[in-house]
Amino acid sequence: MAEFFHDIIECLTAALDAKDRYTSGHSTRVGNMAYDIAKKIKLTNEQCDNIHIAGHLHDIGKIGVCEHVLNKKEKLNTDEWLQIQTHPQIGYNILKKSDKLTEIALMVLYHHERWDGYGYPKGLKGIQIPLGARIIAICDAIDAMTSNRPYRNAYSWEYCQNEIYINKGKQFDPVLVDEISDLWPLWEKNLNFH
Ligand SMILES: [Fe+2]
Ligand SMILES: [Fe+2]
Repeated sequence: MAEFFHDIIECLTAALDAKDRYTSGHSTRVGNMAYDIAKKIKLTNEQCDNIHIAGHLHDIGKIGVCEHVLNKKEKLNTDEWLQIQTHPQIGYNILKKSDKLTEIALMVLYHHERWDGYGYPKGLKGIQIPLGARIIAICDAIDAMTSNRPYRNAYSWEYCQNEIYINKGKQFDPVLVDEISDLWPLWEKNLNFH
């Protein structure tokens, strides 16, 4: 059953990959980093697994966003930006079809919330944001910064680490930022290939 479940998750990820090439490697890396953090802060095995899966699926809602907007090299206009911002809700709507995925669906819904309350879709603040979503937000930012994007090249690893620290307590959960300090060398080694 567990294996079948995992396969279904892979199928969903592959569906998004067919539309947006960037997201496949991105989702895998975010899922793996999120799992490392969940283990590091000693969550239960079930919580670690849920966070791992939510990391893999966090951007699944991009299936519902135009390719032209997803891959645009130029600056997005207001309409296009609003379209991008619908992806957490679309992802939630997809995953909530299964009762067993409720917790994962909520992590997906809130992965663009910010610790200081200025994120989207709801503007939740601090620990109102599910822990798994706070973990994924950090991993998402790390992987986005260290990847080439249609509109810019990847930032250096040092730049990225510095940005995460600068945003501690603003964009990111300050306790989690401190907790991940010894995971950086491991990630740097694993992520260097992209
Ligand atoms: Fe996202
Ligand atoms: Fe993402």
